[in-house]
Amino acid sequence: MRGIILAGGSATRLQPLTGALSKQQLPVYDKPMIYYPLSVLMLAGIQDILIISSHQHVETFQVMLGDGSRLGIHLDYAVQDEPRGVADAFLVGDKHIGNDRVALILGDNVFHGPGFSTVLKHSLQRLDGCELFGYPSKSPDRYGVAEIDEQGNLLSLEEKPSRPRSNLAVTGLYFYDNDVVELAKDLKPSTRNELEITDINLSYLEQGRARLTQLGRGFAWLDMGTHDSLLQAGQYVQLLEQRQGVRIACVEEIALRMGFIDADTCYRLGEELSASSYGGYLMEVASGLGATLTG
Ligand code: G1P
Repeated sequence: MRGIILAGGSATRLQPLTGALSKQQLPVYDKPMIYYPLSVLMLAGIQDILIISSHQHVETFQVMLGDGSRLGIHLDYAVQDEPRGVADAFLVGDKHIGNDRVALILGDNVFHGPGFSTVLKHSLQRLDGCELFGYPSKSPDRYGVAEIDEQGNLLSLEEKPSRPRSNLAVTGLYFYDNDVVELAKDLKPSTRNELEITDINLSYLEQGRARLTQLGRGFAWLDMGTHDSLLQAGQYVQLLEQRQGVRIACVEEIALRMGFIDADTCYRLGEELSASSYGGYLMEVASGLGATLTG
């Protein structure tokens, strides 16, 4: 399974924060935004990941994350010259995907909730076409919207409908089989001149090969397109981390728990950051002193 993080876009709604930095490099409390989607792919067991960003920002991502070997994973980078829609990720990432299946995650999405790694595992196990994740939203018209029947079967999908058929937003995490690359190649731009991910998902739905997992009550899905939502995400992470003493989206800890690195390596990574509480946390986790983490 290959992974792609889409971290392009101009993020004009976040100006002047995004004058020099990309949105996905901005801080969300104690770590850069991209750590959050990266941690989701790692939790799904994915170790081959492509980061797509604009030409202007690709080098900063490389400095930030390197080739991934420190985390026991492999990171590659690709440039998207201009934002052409979410589904463009499969055209830019064509070579990276090869003949494999692929997980795509949007670089500004935070997922956090109990048993998430189990949810991801189940969804990957049953993947036969496309797997989506739905989340109740007060403003579904801002998202892709899924309609489901009482058994949870997908009935319809619409991109940012003015009259949504449900309150179930389609989140920015998608699992696909290899057909997605050919589907993306055949895709026509939408009225807003984008290659829409919802059109890809509709193709799978028409073939009866699209499924959705609901992320319900007690789960957090946050996107960070505005100053307020960026701050709220940071406050959410701060609150939980301070209450529980465990860090959210701590990629080094996830690498350790997934068996991508050993405890000595995790400890060394902590030592390198030992002036910060984040580094201290890594050393505690590596020594087996950290608070226990489930899910
Ligand atoms: C994209 C997708 C939309 C999805 C959303 C999740 O929207 O097109 O279907 O619900 O991501 O964050 P965009 O961020 O491009 O407006």
